[in-house]
Amino acid sequence: MARQAYVNGRYVPHGSAAVHIEDRGYQFADGVYEVVTIIGGRMIDEEPHLDRLERSLRELEIAMPMSRTVLRMVMRELVRRNRVEDGLLYMQITRGVSPRDHKYPGPSVTPSVVMTTRQGDYANSAKFEDGVKVITIPDIRWQRCDIKTISLLPNCIGKTMAARADAYEAWQVDADGNVTEGTSSNAWIVTKDGTLVTRPATHAILNGITRLSILRIAGEEGIQFEERPFSVEEAKSAREAFTSSATSFATPVVTIDDRTIANGKPGSLTLRIFECYMDYCRGLREPKSGGQKERARRAG
Ligand SMILES: Cc1ncc(COP(=O)(O)O)c(C=O)c1O
Repeated sequence: MARQAYVNGRYVPHGSAAVHIEDRGYQFADGVYEVVTIIGGRMIDEEPHLDRLERSLRELEIAMPMSRTVLRMVMRELVRRNRVEDGLLYMQITRGVSPRDHKYPGPSVTPSVVMTTRQGDYANSAKFEDGVKVITIPDIRWQRCDIKTISLLPNCIGKTMAARADAYEAWQVDADGNVTEGTSSNAWIVTKDGTLVTRPATHAILNGITRLSILRIAGEEGIQFEERPFSVEEAKSAREAFTSSATSFATPVVTIDDRTIANGKPGSLTLRIFECYMDYCRGLREPKSGGQKERARRAG
């Protein structure tokens, strides 16, 4: 069976899947999205991703287009149809199709739902052994980076700058010289005394689902951690650094701009977190917390 996509109630061939030219996602980037990693046929952190999706929709006053139960069924059906064992599911919900006008249309406009899948063994990559380079760039985004909106142009610019500098990612830096996050990942360092540090989940960053799982694992493992801003200078002289996302897990960072981090090899705490997180993804490790209430508290 050819690869399929889901578009507004229909499973259609991926190559001819389309939405209307007056979809507000196309004209205004008026929509939100989620990327869920699939390992061994299982969607990783499916419920926290759906929690965040609902939160993003709420923040933008976009109605949930279908019940969560139906949404889950569609996700599963697309994964089944495309026979995805390892890969990812992309889901996008926009405010819907309406004659072009900046202000939100009325409630009669129904949100558009699009889902695609992609095959790929994201857990197998040389970058986990070798580490990667990141560059630092000014954070030029808006003030609601906590919403996972499809409005990603600054992130695309940043990622292109990274690629042109032979780097894997660009860490964005605020006006105070502190790192906010990557263009598609959260930024982490390990200080000289072994404390794991990442920026707190305010409006300045996307509260990564991988970030939340890593914080939970750190707590379970008795790893000391702090949620606080850190500067580019602190990152460059850190003992370890890594960057996290659904598809990059915990990727060791060994170079920031032109500075080598420690001995230029992935750090031991980073590797330990990576292993624990991969065990969790492979179903070899049960979360010791993380019920509905706990998730809601963390998602904010
Ligand atoms: C800006 C940004 N920060 C962080 C993340 C990491 O989020 P997650 O761990 O949910 O993939 C992403 C993922 O796309 C992102 O785009």
